[in-house]
Amino acid sequence: MQRQPLFYDITLRDANQSLKKPWDLREKEIIFNYLAELGVQAVEVGFPAASEMDFAACSRLAEIAPKDTIISGLARAVEHDIVKVVQALEAASKPRIHTFITMSPFNMKYVLNKRPQEVRKLAIEAVTFAKSLICEKGEIEFSVEHFGDCIENLDWVIDSLKEVVKAGATTINLPNTVERYRIKTYVDMVEKVYNALPKDIAISVHCHNDLGMATAATVESYFAGAIQLECALNGLGERAGNTNMYEVAIALHNSGVNTGLNLDKIYETALVVSEMSGVPIYEKAPLIGPDALAHRSGIHQDGAVKTKNMEKGAYRAIHPSLIGRSNDEKLGFTSQSGKTAVFEIISNAGYPISMQEAVRITPLVKEKAQTVGELSDKQLIDIYIQEVFEPKGPFLLKMFEKITDEQFHLVFLHNDKKYDLIGKGNGPLAACLNALDEAGFQQKLLHYEQQAIDEDILGSEAIAMSIIHLEGKNGETIVARAKDTSTMKANVNAIFNGLNIINS
Ligand code: KIV
Ligand code: ZN
Repeated sequence: MQRQPLFYDITLRDANQSLKKPWDLREKEIIFNYLAELGVQAVEVGFPAASEMDFAACSRLAEIAPKDTIISGLARAVEHDIVKVVQALEAASKPRIHTFITMSPFNMKYVLNKRPQEVRKLAIEAVTFAKSLICEKGEIEFSVEHFGDCIENLDWVIDSLKEVVKAGATTINLPNTVERYRIKTYVDMVEKVYNALPKDIAISVHCHNDLGMATAATVESYFAGAIQLECALNGLGERAGNTNMYEVAIALHNSGVNTGLNLDKIYETALVVSEMSGVPIYEKAPLIGPDALAHRSGIHQDGAVKTKNMEKGAYRAIHPSLIGRSNDEKLGFTSQSGKTAVFEIISNAGYPISMQEAVRITPLVKEKAQTVGELSDKQLIDIYIQEVFEPKGPFLLKMFEKITDEQFHLVFLHNDKKYDLIGKGNGPLAACLNALDEAGFQQKLLHYEQQAIDEDILGSEAIAMSIIHLEGKNGETIVARAKDTSTMKANVNAIFNGLNIINS
């Protein structure tokens, strides 16, 4: 088992800053409670110097935080911000001051307008000041903003970090503030810092998702030495967002790492965060997207159904229940889908269907899907009811009535020609088949059974269902079924349905 990572949540700070309408105290408290349920070990609750509202929210969350959760507040490398964090987090039992400054050559020159030596000095002074305020009661995290852009001056950054550590920082965060380059470039840099600093210093990563690789960068950084993983719920954050906590947690879990998180809280949390942030979960979002567990191609549907109840599925990264998302491995029927989907969708909806019937109606369902696109379950079920219980064909039963126990009156049309017959036999089925035989429509009955059916499923009147197997024109077995309030009628209807299936 690998060492346990420390999940450090930045939803209430980095993600919150990026919202069109940042959360107020009440909203932050709701999200905070979800984070506690998830079991996140550290939460950056805000940027107390940003506004009075954020200061108040940080103070409140510090008060209600579980004793063992690290509660952190962000501060620029200036005394005013640092003091605000200390004041806001006074009630926290594990407070952390998170201070930062950029060290990328581009940003030092064009944004800060400062020389590297001045920046290093500010970093050391900020950490020294923070340490003087927090002493042993809490800890200090220092971030090299734009670390991912510190390719040319990495050695200088490392020397600066050694000083920052001496000044009192115990967590060194290495943000990929803007994701611009290869993951390997960033991960190699993280590894270099990890190797250069004392082993009791926690290396942290904080990746933005500008090129869509933040999850990969975070996961690989963990394997390169980072222990603290800064992530946001739903991947919210500036521009294309921050690292998505769920994806990182599941990738690590699947790789044998104990995340320490309650993974089964993920799905509910994601839905609430989406609602509260006004940022919809896009259809194809990994793990939590509405389509993330849907299968539409026939081959995938077949594999999905065969492995449905297994922990590992043929075409899914996780069992849905791992993230608290049960029975969501939905099959969507399109022209690319196959018989397995027809069978599963119909039977999951509670209707009786055999695989043979699914095979028979699949081409019709696919034809419909070709014109309308994905079919709803209802559209598929309507086709099933039509094709299974009322199949069209040349035969039309008009009447079947008992005369005596062994004589029955049968009237039917075949291509509009009327047949009016008395059938004889031991019971209605035999009498009907004998009458058909006499009219030149010989049928071989291979199997017959009756089932009581659920009233709600096929109409409240139906209580009996007959299932018969007839021999088809090429010796194959044809399954036909029918329903009625009377067993006798259900039998005869099933024979006529079978005749229509064989002759259509
Ligand atoms: O993206 C970033 O660099 C940050 C720092 C303030 C940690 O959010
Ligand atoms: Zn950030």
